[in-house]
Amino acid sequence: MEYSNIIVETRGRVGLITLNRPKAMNALNDQLIDEVGDALDAFEKDEGIGAIVITGSEKAFAAGADIGAMANYSHMDAYKGDYITRNWERLKSCRKPIIAAVAGFALGGGCELAMMCDMIFAADTAKFGQPEVKLGILPGAGGTQRLPRAIGKAKAMDMCLTARMMDAAEAERAGLVARIVPADRLVDEAIEAAAVIAGFSLPIIIMIKESVNRAFESPLSEGLLFERRTFHSAFGLEDQKEGMAAFVEKRKPVFKHR
Ligand code: CAA
Repeated sequence: MEYSNIIVETRGRVGLITLNRPKAMNALNDQLIDEVGDALDAFEKDEGIGAIVITGSEKAFAAGADIGAMANYSHMDAYKGDYITRNWERLKSCRKPIIAAVAGFALGGGCELAMMCDMIFAADTAKFGQPEVKLGILPGAGGTQRLPRAIGKAKAMDMCLTARMMDAAEAERAGLVARIVPADRLVDEAIEAAAVIAGFSLPIIIMIKESVNRAFESPLSEGLLFERRTFHSAFGLEDQKEGMAAFVEKRKPVFKHR
């Protein structure tokens, strides 16, 4: 497939998507997000891929939705066409795990895009922010919802109301970021982690992802029930037999359904 706003590669069993609009700090327009969606669809179908990394450039993961593209929208344009963020939730429906590898700016929609991924690895240069308030708008791709769930109300309010940016260290302390990595190691470390994930049983990886996400979408009792039912269903998988037999036989498991 031909892409003009992203670069799509594979590294072993890992799919790598690099956002590539360098002149606009990877500002996110419809075309770029559609391309990300197409690349995810292709990786989702590809049995050779077990996990995905999305990254940007050294300067910017993404500096937000494309301000030039939306500056003249009327309310009716935005509402009727469900513009700007209509195609973003595709990231959320991807069943294979996605790691966001963030260096430089992850602002507005860039921060929101990173939060739609399953975890964020940040270079020590990363800066996260929701500066929409400075443009006379508010976050529109989940910033006001995912940020409080990730870092709590106090810091989410601070970021959304004042437009203050968080550096990588604060983002890690606050729980937004899984790991901080030296900038020159960022993509390699994200690919290494994705390769570890891609070596496990894919049905189990999908069950883990669905179960953790349930924690954000249901009361604890429902989440626990979902987890238990899913846990029981794992015993119907060949890979459970293989994983436990390998432990008992003191050898490495060879999972069939990767
Ligand atoms: N949209 C369109 N173009 C953008 C952009 C954006 N979000 N962010 C940066 N650019 C462009 C600039 O216009 C500039 O283009 P030109 O060279 O043609 O003038 C180029 O990228 C480089 O940017 P700067 O010269 O501004 O670079 P800098 O290093 O001085 O500053 C920055 C970098 C702090 C990221 C600054 O560009 C900035 O503040 N960008 C806007 C960030 C923002 O407000 N994001 C939120 C967007 S709204 C949103 O995302 C809504 C939502 O929730 C979905």
